[in-house]
Parts: sequence; C-alpha cells; structure tokens
Amino acid sequence: MSLSRFLDLADFTRSEVEDLIGLANHLQSHPEPSALQGKILGLVFLNPSLRTLASFQAGMARLGGTSFVITPGQGTWGLETRLGVRMDGSAAEHIREGLPVLASFCDALAIRAFADGKDLAADCADTTFKAMAALVDKPFINLESAINHPCQALADWKTLNDLSIAPRSKFVLSWAPHPRALPLAVPAAALHMAALRGHDVVVARPDGFALPAAIMARARVAAAQSGGSVTETTDRTDAMQGAQILYAKEWGCTSAYGDAAVDAALRATLGDWQVTAETFVGATADCRLMHCLPVRRNVAVADEVLDGPRSVVLQEAHNRLVVQMAVLHRLLA
Ligand code: CP
Repeated sequence: MSLSRFLDLADFTRSEVEDLIGLANHLQSHPEPSALQGKILGLVFLNPSLRTLASFQAGMARLGGTSFVITPGQGTWGLETRLGVRMDGSAAEHIREGLPVLASFCDALAIRAFADGKDLAADCADTTFKAMAALVDKPFINLESAINHPCQALADWKTLNDLSIAPRSKFVLSWAPHPRALPLAVPAAALHMAALRGHDVVVARPDGFALPAAIMARARVAAAQSGGSVTETTDRTDAMQGAQILYAKEWGCTSAYGDAAVDAALRATLGDWQVTAETFVGATADCRLMHCLPVRRNVAVADEVLDGPRSVVLQEAHNRLVVQMAVLHRLLA
C-alpha cells in the first residue's frame, strides 16, 4: 500500500490499517536506521504538544532522517490561518505563503491545528485544516486537526492489538471532566477507530455533550461494515456493564458549542464523571483504561486508576512513536 497523505483513519479499510500496524510491528523487531536517510520532515505546531512533537522527531531520527519544528509566533513569524482577512493583527505571515515555503524545504510536512471552538459546523468540516492541506504539494500528515487525530487513533488500534482485545468486545468511550472545554478531535477519532475495528462501542456522555450527529452516523456505518455497533447513553454505570475498554476523554459542550458560560455551568455539576476505581463496577475483571494524554489527575481520572493495573496510557503513548514510524516509512521510504 503506497501512501501520500495521512489525514484520517477513515480513509483506510480495516485491512489497510492492519497492514500499517504490521509494518509498525516489523520496524519494532527489525529497525531500519537508514530507511529515511536524507529525508526531512517539517513539523508545524499551531498548538502545544508533548507526545506528537517528540515522537515524530524521534521517529524520523530512528529511521535515519531529520526534522525541523515551527511553532508560529514563538521564534518564527505568527501565521494567519483565516482567508480574506486584513492582516493588521499580530500575525506577520499568511499560511498561503508560509506553508508552501516550508513544504519546499522538506520531503513531507505535518501540521497540528486545533479547532477554533466557535463554529461547530466549520470545526466538524475541518475547514481550516483542509485549507492548509490544499496548500501543500508534498506528503502530508495530520498531527491533530479540529475533528481528527489519526496518529492517536492508529496508536490506540495497535494498543488494542497488543493487548489481544477482541474486536467484538465492548468499548466504552466516556466523557470525562476538565476545567474547560476541549476539542472533539480525539473522541471523534477514537470513536471511529473502535467502530472500524468492529467493537460494540457505547458513547457515555452527559446531556449537552453528545458527539455531533454526522460523527456518530459515520461511525455507525464503519461499525456495521466491521460487525460492530455504536450506541450512546447518559448512564455510564449502565454502559460499563461488561465493558472491556474504558476510553476516557474530555470534550466541550456541543449543545451550546463555543458558549464558555453555558459550558462552564454544565461541567460544574459533572465532577462525578471522573474515572475512579468505582467506575469499573460491572466491567470485565481485566477492563483497561485508555486515555490519549495529557490527563488531569484527580479531575479526569483518579490516581488509583492511573497508577493501577487497568491503565495502559503509557503503552498507548509509546505506540505513537511505533505507528508513526510506519506512516513515515510508507510516505517517504
Ligand atoms: N495525545 C497527544 O496528541 O499528545 P500531545 O498533545 O502531547 O501531542
């Protein structure tokens, strides 16, 4: 399978995903330290990162290539992403010039650009990210856009494989508390990943935090094709009965998207959605906790769970490096 862009796990069939993970497993046991010799990856981070930044740089180095990192506005010109605006604010350069210039310096470009968090339809359509992708004529990687995080989803799929979690087992995607609204990218990507892998997925979330209908519908189609299912509930205790995986994630209110006051009022009453040892009552004995990280301890997930045997968050994070090396290999080797 050749690859020119890695934008969305939904662009791949189940067998193509397994093929990529097969390459990741192969590179784990048979390192190829010269595979990308002479190749350069450009990394543009419009938002902060720990795992994505470090794992892509490490992955390129382990394959013999190199990388440069641009964090617009921090030592480099601020980048304007909006089209058609009068640029009299802080951004000195527009993506229409900045991104093609950066792409001309490297063999592949990768961009992180979170949701604006104001217009749900625009964020669900990934309008800004798609506009940026259209400016780049090189192999291109989504490092997390408004509505997608395919690298995280691929690492999560590999983590489920590594744990021998059966595809038809119950996968609960649970909303978790956070001091403020976070984007929908990871929950949307995790939902689609689990649906495509064939799980019986239950999205457990409070009223006001339903995932957008189009995201749910797309996941239902993927689940049906893979022999799984997708349902949703506001009753997490019920959802957890028989669960094999609890995937915890924080996200913002969707019923009044972009309204910080409504969001804050809603989440102020939802502290008991924190994942604790009690959350696993009724789940399988070896039900695992997944979370993409970073995680707020004792807000989203209690110490007792993160530090206990159910947690696989460190394996998930390490798998970011492993699967991204396969993506880089496919794009550039
Ligand atoms: N999970 C994830 O993407 O982590 P970072 O935000 O640290 O890159």
